[in-house]
Amino acid sequence: MSQSTARPVEQSGTFSIGGDLPVHRLGYGVMQLPGPGVWGPPRDHDEALRVLRRAVELGVDLIDTADSYGPFVADHLIREALHPYPEGLVIATKVGFTRQGPRRWVPVGRPEYLRQQVELNLRHLGLERIDLLQLHRIDPKVALEDQLGELVALQDEGKIRHLGLSEVAVEEIEAARKLATIVSVQNRYNLADRAASDVLDHCEREGIAFIPWHPLATGELAGEGSPVARIAGDKGVSPSQLALAWLLHRSPVVLPIPGTSSVAHLEDNVAAAGVSLTDEEMTSLTDAAG
Ligand SMILES: NC(=O)c1ccc[n+]([C@@H]2O[C@H](COP(=O)([O-])OP(=O)(O)OC[C@H]3O[C@@H](n4cnc5c(N)ncnc54)[C@H](OP(=O)(O)O)[C@@H]3O)[C@@H](O)[C@H]2O)c1
Repeated sequence: MSQSTARPVEQSGTFSIGGDLPVHRLGYGVMQLPGPGVWGPPRDHDEALRVLRRAVELGVDLIDTADSYGPFVADHLIREALHPYPEGLVIATKVGFTRQGPRRWVPVGRPEYLRQQVELNLRHLGLERIDLLQLHRIDPKVALEDQLGELVALQDEGKIRHLGLSEVAVEEIEAARKLATIVSVQNRYNLADRAASDVLDHCEREGIAFIPWHPLATGELAGEGSPVARIAGDKGVSPSQLALAWLLHRSPVVLPIPGTSSVAHLEDNVAAAGVSLTDEEMTSLTDAAG
């Protein structure tokens, strides 16, 4: 088996987060691993561990998690499956969302809470420093200076390497960059929902990593019912591979993190790294997805 077939993710190319943290562009997001509503233990604990280990075997070296996934269920699974971590594995995590039950998410950006959650992420993941810490949401009730100020203090203490934002507008990115060095932005973006195009274009101009969440529109772009199923069939690839390949071709700063709780779906998704698209195919896909 050739190296590229054994580790298909390597065909997605690389991006250097913050200029000093190289990763292969196709990553993996762990939000599908905890129980229903991202709450409690996984439906299948052993399969969750298999997914994480297989992702790394296939070449994934960017794993996206958050303290609020479970809460902490995802972080514990990552540690159980992968610690001690292979060299070069980047675990990007997030703080700033509290949980009151399944599907409930409330932002809290008070500095003492953000500090507590960074400390708990370090403990639960078994890390001495977090490579990429993303503020999950800016809390509108707390001054941005206070939220980022605490994260910069943790960075100065050596507990965080790089800082990123999530679900932000261009003006918020620029306001944050006056207070901290921002190396990544994570917004909802996929073939069928391109509302964050202006944010992506801004990130590309500024050399900031853009990490699209819901890259498969929570599964709507995958499978038989996908709006790109016919084009995928004609090309001999799966709809999910096509949706992810579209993201990879959209801009060199895009780092998709498709989520799945299944090894079979993971293996399907990572093969997107080897799918080439012409400009005409990019346009037909955009038209097909509306
Ligand atoms: N920053 C934020 O606010 C934020 C918000 C949401 C998510 N995220 C991050 O973004 C990551 C990706 O988003 P997401 O997981 O919500 O959505 P997604 O990647 O768009 O889609 C995941 C869904 O698609 C299904 N799926 C995956 N691969 C498939 C395939 N090959 N064939 C058929 N179905 C497939 C999964 O089901 P199976 O489990 O059955 O495969 C799951 O239901 C998350 O894991 C998380 O790390 C961040």
